[in-house]
Amino acid sequence: MSREQPVIAIDGPVSSGKSTAARALARALGFVYLSTGAMYRAVAIKARAAGIDPDSPDLAARLGTMLDSTRIEFSGERIMLDGRDVSREIGEPAIGDLASQLSTLGVVRARMRDLQRALGERGGVVMEGRDIGTAVFPDAEFKFFLDADVNVRARRRYAELAAKGVKTTFGEVLEQLRERDIRDQGRALAPLRRADDAVLVDSTDLDADQVVDAMKKRILAASNARKGLKRG
Ligand code: DC
Repeated sequence: MSREQPVIAIDGPVSSGKSTAARALARALGFVYLSTGAMYRAVAIKARAAGIDPDSPDLAARLGTMLDSTRIEFSGERIMLDGRDVSREIGEPAIGDLASQLSTLGVVRARMRDLQRALGERGGVVMEGRDIGTAVFPDAEFKFFLDADVNVRARRRYAELAAKGVKTTFGEVLEQLRERDIRDQGRALAPLRRADDAVLVDSTDLDADQVVDAMKKRILAASNARKGLKRG
C-alpha cells in the first residue's frame, strides 16, 4: 500500500537523544511524533498493576490475556492506557526496566508491532524506538540510527533523572544503561540494531539542534534526489 506521506524511523539505544530529536523533527515537518518505547512502558505499567511477575513461568500467556483487554492510544503526545493518562508514570526507571524485560516476549512485540503499523500506515509520522527501521516499518522512507558513547548517554540520563528528583548515582545509571543495552541488543526477537539502510547519526559531540539539523539535511537531500530521479 502506498502511503500519502513518508514514515520516518528513528532507532537507537537509551539516551541516544532519539526522543528529543524525533519530537523536534516531527514538529518541524508537521508530522505526528510517536514513541514506541512509551507503548512498551504502558504495557509494563499495566503488568505491574496486575501483579504479573516477570519471572513467572506462564508470563507470556498472562500477558497475552492482559493485552486482549488493553487499550493503548496517543492523545497528542500524551499516552493513554485504558483511557487513563500515564505519561508521567512511564518515566519511572523501574518501568523502563520492566518494559525492556517484557519486550523480549513475542506476544508483546507482535501486539505492539501491529498497533504501531496501524498508527503509521498513512505516513506523516516520526516513529522512534528500537526496531522501527528493521521490523515495524522496514520500508520506511527515511531511517536513522542514533547512537552516542555510553558515558555521554549515562551523563545525559543522570542529568534527566536528577532534574526529576530521582535519587541515584552516575555509576548506577551507567550500570543500568549497560544492562539495558545488552538486553535490547541481545534479545532473539527484533533486537536493537541499525538497519542496513539507516543513516547513522552519532550524537556524542552534537547537541539536540545539531542532530535535528543533520536529519533535516538528509531528508531534504534524499527528497531532492528522488524528485530528480522522477524528472529524469
Ligand atoms: O525507548 P524507551 O527507553 O522508552 O524503551 C523502553 C524499553 O522498551 C526498551 O528498553 C526496549 C523496549 N522497546 C522495544 O523493545 N522496542 C521498541 N521499538 C521500543 C522500546
